[in-house]
Amino acid sequence: MSTRNWRVGVAGLGTVGAGLLTFLSERPGFAPAGGLVSVSGVSARSRSRPRPFDISGLAWFDDPVALAQSDEVDLFVELIGGSDGPAKAAVEAALKAGKPVVTANKALIAEHGAELAALAEAAGVPLLFEAAVMGGTPAVKMVREAMVGDDVRSISGILNGTCNFILTEMEQGGRAFEDVLAEAQRLGYAEADPTMDVGGFDAAHKITILAALAFNCAPDFAACEVEGVDQVELLDIRMAKDLGYRIKLIASADRSDEGVSVRVHPSLVPLAHPLAQAGGALNALFIEGERLGRIFIQGAGAGAGPTAAAVAADIADVMTQAMRPVFQRPATELAAFTPVDRSRSLVRAYLRLLVKDEPGVIAAVSETLAEAGVSIESFLQKPVEDAEGVPIVLTTHAVSEAVLAQAVERIGGHPAVIQAPRLMRIARI
Ligand code: HSE
Repeated sequence: MSTRNWRVGVAGLGTVGAGLLTFLSERPGFAPAGGLVSVSGVSARSRSRPRPFDISGLAWFDDPVALAQSDEVDLFVELIGGSDGPAKAAVEAALKAGKPVVTANKALIAEHGAELAALAEAAGVPLLFEAAVMGGTPAVKMVREAMVGDDVRSISGILNGTCNFILTEMEQGGRAFEDVLAEAQRLGYAEADPTMDVGGFDAAHKITILAALAFNCAPDFAACEVEGVDQVELLDIRMAKDLGYRIKLIASADRSDEGVSVRVHPSLVPLAHPLAQAGGALNALFIEGERLGRIFIQGAGAGAGPTAAAVAADIADVMTQAMRPVFQRPATELAAFTPVDRSRSLVRAYLRLLVKDEPGVIAAVSETLAEAGVSIESFLQKPVEDAEGVPIVLTTHAVSEAVLAQAVERIGGHPAVIQAPRLMRIARI
């Protein structure tokens, strides 16, 4: 094994970049693959910003592309973030210069993964992104390497620490959404733009990457159906719990003969299920293989330390000089996603209405559902002190999404229904 010194250029000194430089300064002999690692240059938006580590001895680059191309850099680490702009330009420059790249950038890989994989494979260098999914918990290696001898059927889990933290704190502390989000930002879980988290886009980037690795497809972010937690109300969290469920932001990817379905939705999970038990900023994931059956992994999915640990693990992998295709199969052979026809997929649902407390309302709701062929599984009407009207909650048996959507639209138009109906899936896990 080589004992060469790997000179690393780090672009981006935000939460993860700071975590990596802190880690490398605390572990000066970090040499898991027999070589040596030294940071030779850095790039960030501001050179003068106060930092908990010393960058005065490192070459400074205003332009991350120049850092990627520098003769003093053997391995380029991209921690800038964002699907386009400087992050993409710098990664492309490094790959074109024949340098291995390690990145934590899920948006970049989910949106441009196939073209970057083609560049990496043409140059014969690795492009690694363990930190892009579940932070320090090794989901990418699990799917790309450990599962390579199996055929993955489905993947589903919790992939956004910020949303999980928000839902947990809302439930446990009865706290307001905005208050908990501000705390997640302080703790370094949330993205620079938290709408990426609460809108479900961060989880969507991650499940898009896992789906590509699992199903040998080019990542196709546009094919992912996305709904975030920003519309989840405390009332729904409480009502779901009364019915024996916990609301979680579930990201899932399923393969069937009809194609691939990739989604992110707030979903109801039975209280005793391991995904319902994963609280706070934890991430958790089930991977189901044809031969292996179900595997469950759980761990830190956000924060400086855990994410930097994943970047360091990728640096160690580069040092071994092992090569495998970026997405399990050479970029030129990746299949296109074949999305399943959503109107034909079946779903069990939670429907919550806020209605005027007057005769005939429940009859009208159940009549509309019956006419549409939607079968009610359970029903709950429970006056709540701080609610404007009376909440009615019901769960359905499996029904076509299209049929359910039409029935809910009709119910929403009823004069006694005083707020847009709230519809959530019951997770199929
Ligand atoms: N904002 C992300 C999360 C960080 O909350 O999970 C890791 O991608």
